Amino acid sequence: MVVGRKIGSLFVLLFPMFMLILNVTVVAVIWFGGIEVNAGTVEVGTLFAFMQYIGQIMMGVIMSSFMAMMIPRAAVSAERVGEVLDAQSTMTRPDNGVTAFPTPGAVAFDGVEFTYPGAESPVLSGISFAAQPGETVAIVGSTGAGKTTLVSLIPRLFDVTGGGVFVGGTDVREADVESLWDSIGLVPQRPFLFTGTVASNLRYGREDATDEELWHALEIAQGRDFVEEMPDGLDSRIAQGGTNVSGGQRQRLAIARAIVHQPQILVFDDSFSALDLTTDARLRQALWRELPHVTKIVVAQRVSTVTDADRIVVLEGGTMVGVGTHEELLETSETYREIVESQLGVDA
Ligand SMILES: Nc1ncnc2c1ncn2[C@@H]1O[C@H](COP(=O)(O)OP(=O)(O)OP(=O)(O)O)[C@@H](O)[C@H]1O
Ligand SMILES: [Mg+2]
Repeated sequence: MVVGRKIGSLFVLLFPMFMLILNVTVVAVIWFGGIEVNAGTVEVGTLFAFMQYIGQIMMGVIMSSFMAMMIPRAAVSAERVGEVLDAQSTMTRPDNGVTAFPTPGAVAFDGVEFTYPGAESPVLSGISFAAQPGETVAIVGSTGAGKTTLVSLIPRLFDVTGGGVFVGGTDVREADVESLWDSIGLVPQRPFLFTGTVASNLRYGREDATDEELWHALEIAQGRDFVEEMPDGLDSRIAQGGTNVSGGQRQRLAIARAIVHQPQILVFDDSFSALDLTTDARLRQALWRELPHVTKIVVAQRVSTVTDADRIVVLEGGTMVGVGTHEELLETSETYREIVESQLGVDA
C-alpha cells in the first residue's frame, strides 16, 4: 500500500510537470521566435512549423516516459493473470460419472483424512460418520477445528487425501460433477451476494424458479418480512457483495438461494450465527417442517442450534472426539460438555 501511494504521488507531480515544461517551451519559442520575426530573420511560417515539431517531439517524450512507467506494472499484472489462466484444476472429472445415486440424500465420511495442498500436517484425520436421507447431522467444534474444511469435502471443493466421502452412496470422485452439485445446496460461512436484485440472486439457485417459489424459499429462510419491506420487493437492488443488506439478511438470502436450488442435501456452514435466537429457532423449525426429506448438515457455534439434531459430531483439532445425540454426548464427551457449559451455564 505504501509503495502504491508513493507511485500515486509521483504520478500526480509528474504529469503537471511535463505539461509545464511543454507549455514553457512553447512560450519560449514564441517569445524568441517573435523577436527573430520582428528582425526579419525568420518567417512566421517557419516559426509555426518549428512549434509544431517541438510539440510533437515533447509529446513523444512524455508518452515514452509514461510507457516506461506502465510497462513494468503491466508486466506484473500480465504475469498474475497468466498464472490464473494457466492454473489446472486439481479436480479430475470422471468419464461416465455416476448420475443416478443409489441412495439419494445420504452422506457418509469414511476414515477421511485431508491435508491442504502445500501444508505439512493434515487438517482432518480419522473422520467417519454418516447421515441417512432426511437426517440432521450437526458439526460443532472450536474455531479452526476444521468444520469448514470438512463440509467443503462434500461438494468436492477439495479432494480427500485419505479415506472417502460418499454422497448418495457414491464416492464423490466417481460421481458426475453436475449431478453431485445438483444434489447439494451449500450455504457458505461467508455468503456472497452478486450485483443485481433479490430475485436474480435467488435464481442463482435455479434459473427457472417462479416468483412463488422464491417467496416460499424466503418464507422458510425467515426472509419474507424484510424483503417485503424493501422498496421493490423481489426486484430491490442488491449491491456488489450484498453490502446494502445486513449480515443476518445476507445469511437468510443465501439460505433462501440454497433452498430454491431444491437439493437433497443442505449444508449450512455456520449460517445461523448472525441471526438472533428467536429467528434462528423459527428458521430451523420451518426448515424441519417444510423440508423433512432433505438431509441437513449443520455447522454451528451455538449448541442451542443443534441440541435436537439426530447426530452431533464434535471436532477438535481436526479429529473427531465424539459423536452422538446431545444427551449421549453430555454423558460421553468431555469436550462437548465443556462447550455446553461455557454456553448454556453449568446446570445445562
Ligand atoms: N485454504 C487453506 N489452506 C491451508 N490451510 C487452511 C485453509 N483453510 C483453512 N486452513 C487451515 O485449516 C484449519 C481448519 O480451518 P477451518 O476453516 O476448517 O476451521 P473452522 O472449524 O471452520 O473454523 P471457524 O469456526 O473459525 O470457521 C485451520 O487451522 C486453518 O489454518
Ligand atoms: Mg469455518
